[in-house]
Amino acid sequence: MRHFLKETDFTRDEVAAVFAAAAALKKSRGLPTLHTPLDGQSWGLLFFKKSTRTRVSFQVGVRELGAFPVMLNAEDLQLSRGETPADTARVLSRYLHGLVVRCHEHALLEEFANVGGIPVVNALSDFLHPCQTLTDFFTLAERWSGGNPAGLVQSLQGRKIAFLGDTACNMANSFILAGALLGVEIALAGPDGYAPGSEIKAQLEADKLAPTWAFTTNPFEAVRGADAVYTDVWVSMGAETQKEERLREMRPYQVTAALMAAANPGAYFMHCLPAHAGEEVAREVLDSPASIIFDQAENRLHTQKAILAHLAEVNAGAKS
Ligand code: CP
Repeated sequence: MRHFLKETDFTRDEVAAVFAAAAALKKSRGLPTLHTPLDGQSWGLLFFKKSTRTRVSFQVGVRELGAFPVMLNAEDLQLSRGETPADTARVLSRYLHGLVVRCHEHALLEEFANVGGIPVVNALSDFLHPCQTLTDFFTLAERWSGGNPAGLVQSLQGRKIAFLGDTACNMANSFILAGALLGVEIALAGPDGYAPGSEIKAQLEADKLAPTWAFTTNPFEAVRGADAVYTDVWVSMGAETQKEERLREMRPYQVTAALMAAANPGAYFMHCLPAHAGEEVAREVLDSPASIIFDQAENRLHTQKAILAHLAEVNAGAKS
């Protein structure tokens, strides 16, 4: 059984196939189609944390692929009254054909994948957010490939993305992992103490990938030569008690017009959203022509549909 818990659960060739499928699904959306690879299935969407984009794009995507989406808030399940994750996974596997999970501890996803008998997809954990990074790289590849679906992944090769602000978060980890997989340089700039941790370094080693990232405390150094500038909220879900300290420490890393001007000409501004204008990004950057934030949000739908379709195909192949 194949799962998608981290970027490196797919090979580079598989990412290329997913990107080509995402482009085709985007183009054909709304047209009569026979491409419903999850026909007759039911997929659970289990959320332990708040969500707008992930929740809605998966719900719509599962339905468009022919399956019935079963929305599950963790608070409403017996999990919240002490039923174990293992028993929950075993029970859900008897009803569902796949499970999309947004949770805190990444280990919970791994437990669901290990004990259940259905594919599990990571819709964000405290460690990684792989559906977001695959979407973000696809969004850039759409622009850089000149409309050639076969050249989407290739167009990323040798590019540089600067990631500013909270460089010790799940999004930064995911950029480190996806960058190494796809040959993209990742320049992280954040305060002292926010360098990427041992867990993501261990993951790169486990995947036998050469690191393509570097960390600096100087945001201008990070954006020099960058083709895209990325940021995320400074106060992630669960870090609310550190709010005042984080806002003060990360202030020099706000993506401003001056920082964008120091990147490569034509560099894109990216954000996984929700954004806080005036904190991690200046309003004028958020609303500028360089900003591709809503294309990213839209592409969550197309990329995730391609991920689910790919899992369906490879898992069906493994059974036959
Ligand atoms: N970017 C993202 O994952 O958005 P949501 O938290 O709204 O799902």
